[in-house]
Amino acid sequence: MKFQKKILCIGAGYVGGPSMAMIAHKCPDYRVTVADINHERIDAWNSAELPVYEPGLDDIVKKTRGKNLFFAKDIENQIKENDIIFVCVNTPTKTFGTGAGKAADLQYLEKTARQILQYSQSPKIVIEKSTLPVKTALAMERILSSGKGKITFEVLSNPEFMAEGTAIKDLENPDRVLIGSRETKSGLKARAELVDIYSNWIPQEKIITSNIWSSELSKLVANAFLAQRVSSINSISALCEKADANVAEVARAVGMDSRVGGKFLNAGIGFGGSCFKKDILNLVYLCSYYGLPEVADYWESVVKINEYQQERFIANILGSMFNTLAGKKICILGFAFKADTGDTRESPAIYITRRLLAEHAEVIISDPKALKNAALDLADEEGKIDYIEDAYRAAAGCHALAIMTDWDLYKKLDYKKIFKSMVKPAFLFDGRNILDHKKCFEIGFNVYPIGKPALSHFKTSQES
Ligand SMILES: NC(=O)c1ccc[n+]([C@@H]2O[C@H](COP(=O)([O-])OP(=O)(O)OC[C@H]3O[C@@H](n4cnc5c(N)ncnc54)[C@H](O)[C@@H]3O)[C@@H](O)[C@H]2O)c1
Repeated sequence: MKFQKKILCIGAGYVGGPSMAMIAHKCPDYRVTVADINHERIDAWNSAELPVYEPGLDDIVKKTRGKNLFFAKDIENQIKENDIIFVCVNTPTKTFGTGAGKAADLQYLEKTARQILQYSQSPKIVIEKSTLPVKTALAMERILSSGKGKITFEVLSNPEFMAEGTAIKDLENPDRVLIGSRETKSGLKARAELVDIYSNWIPQEKIITSNIWSSELSKLVANAFLAQRVSSINSISALCEKADANVAEVARAVGMDSRVGGKFLNAGIGFGGSCFKKDILNLVYLCSYYGLPEVADYWESVVKINEYQQERFIANILGSMFNTLAGKKICILGFAFKADTGDTRESPAIYITRRLLAEHAEVIISDPKALKNAALDLADEEGKIDYIEDAYRAAAGCHALAIMTDWDLYKKLDYKKIFKSMVKPAFLFDGRNILDHKKCFEIGFNVYPIGKPALSHFKTSQES
């Protein structure tokens, strides 16, 4: 079959796999290939058990794989054979040298650019889909134009706004698709080609275009704004606990103002995931680099509040459980950084678990999709943790439950049955505010939500 367009994606991760599967699904006339240096990952994409869990993803991959969606290891050949190349490699926080702990580590991106230059035999459109510091396209262009040949490359920015857990829904019906390009004749032509791809299923008014720097920066700013909302409501949750207010009631009242909006205002244990912290720190680094320390401090405080919230959670567990956790069994319900994903990168559960172990608690971790990743994250603590997928078995014999992930499953458990199987007094720390706290209290739990008064069966010092 002759395909209308030949698309390659370099990087078969959480973004590359699902986003390319969606293009293949919506554009049967295009051939889409996803390549990666991680051969195990490619094998997994070609197997029955995909390396990424996302509701709806299996279905789309099953329909397209081997027809117009391919997962490949031979990156060099794929570069030669394809005309449009998405770059979807990881851009973690730098751990060494200048900017360590804040700046983005662009080594994978640069290696990819050099590979594209080395193996290209015809003109290419190269699309940055990874999240990058503003002005990265300039470096990309300089590398791609450093060859002696006459091949032309046009660099576009097309940041991905999908969220893990709802990736397929987001990719199918995004709020917007952003495409940034140089505003030259060839830049605008390449931009039109990418608009053409998305137009197969996305309404024109949702495909927005901009200059390339605005596009790069918009992704960092979008994540910073989202994380800022989480930290804003979490900071207020601390005040609510002191002032006997209820953060859910405050969030509802504030969110009903249409200028504010009600989404992303649930207080909890804090944000995780591979992006928010990394992208804010990257923004902080850029602001410092451009001589804007006040702006850098402002955004850094979003990360600091997130850390403070986790610290508060631990202090609350310790304080409520009579200031000692040694030898007590604590069941962590949920290890993924959010519901509907197996991804545990930067999950608050990692930090909380380590802190519980430092207090010599015995930790049992339960999660429907993330146990494999949890065991990898905590490999250095091997032997100190039990991993049990079934929540009832995990909770049996424990002194406390700590809910770390907003899995729907945890809202529907039989807490009466769980309470019966636990050591008394039984404690429940709802790090995601997802349960009916009054009901759990009536069952017999001492309940500690976030930003709401605790419901405890213990008499206060005045009563005793
Ligand atoms: N995960 C998300 O929800 C999300 C959402 C939007 C944007 N992003 C951004 O997208 C980018 C990718 O994120 P991810 O979560 O998919 O990362 P990931 O780590 O899951 O995947 C990246 C893949 O790139 C591969 N890779 C690295 N260097 C390579 C090279 N030279 N050649 C071929 N393959 C190479 C890695 O082996 C890995 O499989 C990041 O910049 C991230 O910030 C992520």
